Amino acid sequence: MVVSRAIMDSFLGHTDLRVAGGSRTCNLQSGMEKTEYREQIIQYVRRNAKPPDKFSHQARLYALAAELARGRPHDDDVVFAAAWLHDLGVFLGHRPEDPAKLVAWDCVAYAMKQAPGILESAGFPNEKIPAVVEAIRTHQAQQEPTRFEGIVLRDADILEQLGAVGILRIVSKVGRDTRFVRFSDALAVLRKNLSDLPGQLRLELARQLAEPRIQALNSFLLAAEAETKEILW
Ligand SMILES: [Fe+2]
Repeated sequence: MVVSRAIMDSFLGHTDLRVAGGSRTCNLQSGMEKTEYREQIIQYVRRNAKPPDKFSHQARLYALAAELARGRPHDDDVVFAAAWLHDLGVFLGHRPEDPAKLVAWDCVAYAMKQAPGILESAGFPNEKIPAVVEAIRTHQAQQEPTRFEGIVLRDADILEQLGAVGILRIVSKVGRDTRFVRFSDALAVLRKNLSDLPGQLRLELARQLAEPRIQALNSFLLAAEAETKEILW
């Protein structure tokens, strides 16, 4: 297997995590298999994740899903591809800009439709594509996964909606997403995430990983309410 230097450099440059206040870095794929098609998939998402801060969700999601799956029978290629391609339909340039069309937009159906062509172009094993599409289909909290890869993807995506990361992802929408005009729009979604999502986790390890995230999100919401008092944001 020959991985081009340009792709590898770009991949490493974009997926290293720099820890705030320090120089420590860690590669999200440490210990994970590296293949040409994985690099191609990452590069596709790098080009299409807009706004750019949406890129890191895919990298964290795969790391989380792989952690949840570790030690249990599963196909890591399926987890990888589904994690990286599950949110194609939320990227600017892919989702509609017209607010009326956006309300009716099915971002999951879009990702299910787009993923096979992207995977084929990347040289991903053809026989695994249906399983990737199925994991994408069931990745949202209200869905019922039919495969273990779908369960880890769904639990990982729930974890990404809790804690500091969940707060950052929602608050960053204020002012640039037509559905998030005021801070109160973000707080309403965060409150709903806190009340509805933790109970929907399937795996015990995911429930353990959720605990500090639940505490962080709860503390943030309590502080926001205490500081705003009766003033509407
Ligand atoms: Fe997601």
